[in-house]
Amino acid sequence: MAINAQAQIELHKALAPRYAYRYSFEFSRLFQDDWHAELLSHLPPNSKRVLDLGCGTGFFLAELDEKRPGAIGLDISHAMLRVSEQYVPSARLVTADAERLPFRERSFDAIFCKGSLHHTRDHIGFLSNCRRALAKDGVLIMSEPCNDNFLIRWARFLLYKFSPHFDLGDQGFTKEGLRELYEKAGFEVTFAGRYGVFAYVLAGFPDHLGILRFVPGNVGLVKFFLKFDRWMCATRILRIFAFQVVMVGKPKA
Ligand SMILES: C[S@@+](CC[C@H](N)C(=O)[O-])C[C@H]1O[C@@H](n2cnc3c(N)ncnc32)[C@H](O)[C@@H]1O
Repeated sequence: MAINAQAQIELHKALAPRYAYRYSFEFSRLFQDDWHAELLSHLPPNSKRVLDLGCGTGFFLAELDEKRPGAIGLDISHAMLRVSEQYVPSARLVTADAERLPFRERSFDAIFCKGSLHHTRDHIGFLSNCRRALAKDGVLIMSEPCNDNFLIRWARFLLYKFSPHFDLGDQGFTKEGLRELYEKAGFEVTFAGRYGVFAYVLAGFPDHLGILRFVPGNVGLVKFFLKFDRWMCATRILRIFAFQVVMVGKPKA
């Protein structure tokens, strides 16, 4: 097994219990639900066979499986999937490496990746596998850390360097960089946007910043910031402050 794959398995052994904690507060659930709704808004109505690639502890997969029963979740970390097993018992779970997908060509109508591409090293290989696993008119819907803003880029670099909960090699993407990767892997990009500014900081990671759960009125603040962030992400100069890039693509004909 590749060195990075082994490192990811080790890293996520320790992270699995933290994810359950991350999703356990009203204010953080509100934020995650909104993020999931943003991703699900790109799911074509006629798609039936869906995959959550890097599903982790299954909180997004649970929503996907509700919309498309029989959803499949894949992750390299068995520790993360053990939480999924309890949380979304109806979904089908596969332990495997996204860089070597164990599916036949054209097995899916939609593939979601919420924050898993940046954990791998062969990005074009990962995306090419997705293209092969997708039907001709299938879609790849992805949300990944956005490094368009140098302040965010540096904050992420420092966090990843000094925190034991991150791997320094797992840096994010610029929007144009991710678009280029999609295109090199044989995708036509049909949507490229940004997601998450203040609500992302306030509610995204109570497992890393435990103090956030004590912020008075955090539920109301998140509701306000979700709307405010949407406005920022739709505004030309301000969208550079977003923490995530959301990209959708379909296999080129
Ligand atoms: C940041 S977590 C996101 C988990 C989940 N999508 C969520 O949003 O809660 C990244 C996930 O990618 C998984 N991962 C990392 N490298 C992988 C690989 N090569 N193949 C499959 N999954 C991988 C990790 O085990 C982890 O569960």
